[in-house]
Amino acid sequence: MMSHTNISLPESVKIVEVGPRDGLQNEAALPLEVKIELVNRLSRTGLKHIESGAFVSAAKVPQMANSSEVFARISRQPGVNYCTLTPNVRGLESAIASGVNQVAVFTSASEGFCQRNINCSISQSLERFKDVIALASKHAIPVRGYLSCIVDCPYDGATHPSQVMSIAREMLDIGCCEISLGDTVGTGTPLKIAKVIEAVLSQAKPEQIAAHFHDTYGQALANLYQALQMGITSIDSSVAGLGGCPYAYGAVGNVATEDVLYLCQGLGISTGINLNQMINTAWFICQHLNKRPTSKVSLAAEHKLFS
Ligand code: HMG
Ligand code: MG
Repeated sequence: MMSHTNISLPESVKIVEVGPRDGLQNEAALPLEVKIELVNRLSRTGLKHIESGAFVSAAKVPQMANSSEVFARISRQPGVNYCTLTPNVRGLESAIASGVNQVAVFTSASEGFCQRNINCSISQSLERFKDVIALASKHAIPVRGYLSCIVDCPYDGATHPSQVMSIAREMLDIGCCEISLGDTVGTGTPLKIAKVIEAVLSQAKPEQIAAHFHDTYGQALANLYQALQMGITSIDSSVAGLGGCPYAYGAVGNVATEDVLYLCQGLGISTGINLNQMINTAWFICQHLNKRPTSKVSLAAEHKLFS
């Protein structure tokens, strides 16, 4: 950790790009070629972790239905981790056949969201994950765990930090290598985020935790700055700020990757990722989606406000 005035910040962070999954799952379905080109462009920015698809029900999330084809046709860069969502053993089998480097299981700190999203209770989801983790470990595939609704749930209201803490601990105990804490609806503010992270840190090391913040109320960067000061060094973000969750209606995308890179650059935190290439990639995908990036940094770049 380095120290500026009284603030401690990490020297480097790991960025997990979730745009091709969390981003595109909530946008109009794109042609396969465009999805492949997006992953390829992202993999040339210096990113080392790209969530490139999801092996979930095509009826529930049609945008991810061609994930196998995406994995089959991307140009894999050495050293890049191409990851995916696998809610069950069936998803994992497809992921293994697609040659993924890492998978992720996902549950919620609230029962309401868990039921709507993956059609089971929290405890049933953890039972299901044990089978996923057992098979993944036979193939030496690390399993990340997402924990949604860490602040609020669209169905159950506020989530207590102790609930997040105990499920995060259970996910680590069953073999998840990292727990990504999801402010799925994006209602969190730095104080609430600090309380959740503090609770989880009573049961886990900072390097076992990732920050996955949606930006519905424009607080994601502030929340991230809070998390960085608490020693969190794994950040999920989405190019152009794309996305959201089909089961959290009204929630917007993750914090934009370009904005995270600009923040880290300003704080002297190394990411290993080229900001200008990320901005170009944001404009590329937005042209195909017929929209503008939500990223302030990409919008500023349009007017050449920085070099
Ligand atoms: P289920 O209904 O309990 O299970 O689904 P099922 O076994 O009865 O299967 C239902 C249908 O899904 C069947 O098809 C299965 O074949 C099929 P049908 O016979 O009706 O045609 N199916 C599958 N298809 C492809 N791959 C599979 C698979 N498994 C079953 N692996 C299940 C359970 C979890 C599969 C389902 O509810 C589902 O896919 N839900 C969608 C979950 C999802 O993708 N949500 C969005 C991502 S999570 C998120 O965005 C939050 C996150 O970003 C963090 C945050 O922001 O907080 C991660
Ligand atoms: Mg998400």
